[in-house]
Parts: sequence; C-alpha cells; structure tokens
Amino acid sequence: IPVQPFDLVLFGATGDLARRKILPSLFHRFQIGQFSDDTRIIGSSRADLDRPEFQELTAAAIREFGQPGETNEADIAAFIKLLDYVAVDARGDGGWADLGQHLRADVTRAFYLSVAPSLFTDIADRLSASGMVTAESRIVLEKPFGHDLASARELNQALRAHFQEDQIYRIDHYLGKETVQNLMALRFANSLFEPLWNSSHIDHVQITVAESIGVEGRGEYYDRSGAMRDMVQNHLMQLLCLTAMEPPARFTPNAVRDEKVKVIEALDPVAPDDIARGQYRGRNGDSYREHAGNPDSTTESFIAMKVQVANWRWAGTPFYLRTGKCLRERVSEIAVYFRDPPHNIFEGAAGVHGNVLVIRLQPDEGITLRTTIKDPGPGGMRLTGANLDMTFADSLPDAGRPQDAYERLIMDVIRGNQTLFMRGDEVEAAWAWADPIIASWADSETVPQRYDQGGSGPEDSLLLMHRDGRRWRSIGD
Ligand code: BG6
Repeated sequence: IPVQPFDLVLFGATGDLARRKILPSLFHRFQIGQFSDDTRIIGSSRADLDRPEFQELTAAAIREFGQPGETNEADIAAFIKLLDYVAVDARGDGGWADLGQHLRADVTRAFYLSVAPSLFTDIADRLSASGMVTAESRIVLEKPFGHDLASARELNQALRAHFQEDQIYRIDHYLGKETVQNLMALRFANSLFEPLWNSSHIDHVQITVAESIGVEGRGEYYDRSGAMRDMVQNHLMQLLCLTAMEPPARFTPNAVRDEKVKVIEALDPVAPDDIARGQYRGRNGDSYREHAGNPDSTTESFIAMKVQVANWRWAGTPFYLRTGKCLRERVSEIAVYFRDPPHNIFEGAAGVHGNVLVIRLQPDEGITLRTTIKDPGPGGMRLTGANLDMTFADSLPDAGRPQDAYERLIMDVIRGNQTLFMRGDEVEAAWAWADPIIASWADSETVPQRYDQGGSGPEDSLLLMHRDGRRWRSIGD
C-alpha cells in the first residue's frame, strides 16, 4: 500500500549504515511502488556535496548493497530523483536554515539520525531551534541509547524537550527481523502454545545470539561496551521480553510495550555466579585484545547468564541467555524446553526426548518442534526424537524474499507505528537491570575467561548449564 508523501531527512547520509542499509531499503520500497513521486529524501552530513554528487553516491550504494537482482538502472535513476542534499554542521549554525527551506509544511517529516550517539542531542536541539519540529515530525535514532541508566535518562530528557514520546522512534533492529515478529504471531495467533507457555510446562528457555565475526573495525566502540551493553541490554532483552510477556489486550504500540516493560521490571538481579563472561583469543595478532587495540582489556566478547523472570508465570523457569563474537557459526534462536511427561509408560524403552520448540531467527528463519515418536521398523516399542520442521522460505515459497529489518522499520516510521520501537521507559528499565551487573564486574575486578575462536564460548558457560543439569544447544554442527 503506498504511503502519503513525506520528507525524510537522513543525517549521516554518507556513513556506513546509510549506504549499507538505509538507502538500499528506501530504494526497494520505492521500487515496489510504496512512495509517491513527490516523496523527498534529503541527505545531510558535514560533507560538502551537491545534489548530483549525493545522487551518484546513493546510486553506487544501491548497486553495491541492494538486493542482488533487484537493482536495475532504470529504477535507480527514478529513485535518485527523489533525493536532495544539504550540508549541515551538527555543532554549529551552518546549513540549518537551508535545510528548513527544503521541508514542506504539510507532510510528515522524519529526521533519521544515522550518526554518532554523541550528536543525538545536538541535532535534536538544532532542529528545534531552527523551527523544524512540527507536530507531524518524527525523530529516528539507533542504539546505543546511553551507556547506563543515567546517560539514558539524560538522552530521553533531551529528546523530550523537543519531541513527544510518540514522535521518538528508537530502533532496535532485532525487532524488525521477520521471525521476531513471528514470535508474537506464534504465541498470540495460535491456541496451541499459550496454555503451555508457563513454568508448569516449560522447564527452561535458551536464547542464543551467536556471531562468527569478531569486532574487527569497531574495536574502540566495542571495548567500551562489551557484549552486555552491545547485545544483551537491547537485542537479547527484546527477545526475552517477547518470549516472556503476557498477551497484550491489543496489538497496539503501547499495549505491546507496556507488557514488555513489565517483564524487564520483573527481572531478578543476576548473581555473579549466574554469569559467565568470555573473551576470544587467537594466534598471530588475531585475539580480541588486538582487535580492540587494548592489550589489557577486560571487556567481554561473550556472555552467558541465567536470568529469572520473577512473576507468577515464570517463577521456577530460568531463561538462559548467551551471545558472543567469533563463535562457530552465526546462529540466533530461541529454544523453549518443555518439561518431560509426568509419567513414562514406556518403561524400558529408550528415553523420551523432551519437546523443544526452536524459533530460528537466522539463518534459515523458521520453527522446529522436537517430538518423541516410535522408532520406525522392527525392534518393538523403541522411542526416538524427530523434528517437525518448518523453514518459512520452503513453506511459503510465494512470499518473496524476507524483508530486511530496516525496510520494515523505516516504513513503520513513515506510517507512524511505534510497536517495533523501544519506548523511553523500556530503555531505562533495561539499563536499571544491567547497571548493577556491569558495576559488579568493575568492583570485583573479574576478568573474562579466554575462549578459542570458532568454538562455543568459554568453559564457564558450559558449567553454568551443567550445574543445573542442563545443556546448551550446540552452536552449528
Ligand atoms: C549490533 C551490534 O547492534 O548488532 C553488533 O552492535 C552485532 O555488534 C549486530 O554484530 C548483530 O546484528 P545481526 O542483525 O547481524 O544479528
């Protein structure tokens, strides 16, 4: 469905994220007919470019990073007609009046800040001071939203000085992933799962976001953040919330986000014993410390933790979270382990294989349900485990390629739907939970345990599970 004409100002328009994700996503939505010809996309950055130069830069980005097979030259030529460019100085006066003149009074305005977080407040202030923030304006930001609770509060206050909460779109790109939304469809559009979705029937939940890449090129940022700030406080927290939350009464932005906040607020503090931190090592200058440019770094590139959602539904069902860099494979999934049947009638038969529902975010988006069946063939009543397996791409071959997370999120900004964006109080609640955990490492001067690249993390992570008589699912084969 086409959207109303809009003005989108893309700050940081020459940067990496803009070139890799934002501009190709906008192009694709234009290509499939969702933008009218009087839509305007105004690139902005410090760089002194003119309109044709920005158009050429965008065309090159689409050719390089657009979906293969979808980047034909005629469409690119049509798309770049929507573009304009205004250089601004985020910390000075230059360019702001000019930018204001490029905006129309009667259409939605989206200000997309694809810039360093240290510029968020400056740009919001300048937009406001130059009179550009109308009731129809929206501001879009990417994580990190602060470094801790205090800085997150400061940022929220600075934004709210100029924008209402319903004008602020905080992106956590995990919420744009197809399967993350499928988690809500699975839970709340089927009658099969929800009656079992509690501690009476679920033994534990494992949430894994494993990456095979290291921190190459982003070492400086990452070393100040670590896996806890970079991944757990936001992406894994969102996965936890969507898995654990109560059914919202309606699928509306605030009804969904209210339920997520309640999950975060129900989290118990995490004891140091329930956390395993790791740092990858390598040979020949290939270890985390070299990548981070900090030979003494005690920042974790891996973390596993046991988390308890202390509420009626989940008391007694731990959630185990783990994420790390330089692991065996890139795998993101949520695995829900159901309890064993209360009584085994198949005495002597090889064991019951507990039911496990695995929701795969990437790669091969889909769902698997492990079941126990009779081992086919002779040999009597022997049991074996078998999977009910659904890869979305195979089950729905006509659905086309999955949407990129950014495409969906950008369209939601234009349409004014905040369901998949983090609300200010949600961000603050997540920091309020994370801060004491991070502080405890500094206080005790704990050092992450080394782990080999290409493995499944440090030994302490395995022990965290073994101690509870459980095992992590394997990362890759
Ligand atoms: C980002 C983190 O938010 O998410 C990165 O800063 C991480 O460190 C990335 O690599 C993972 O995203 P995805 O979509 O590749 O799983």
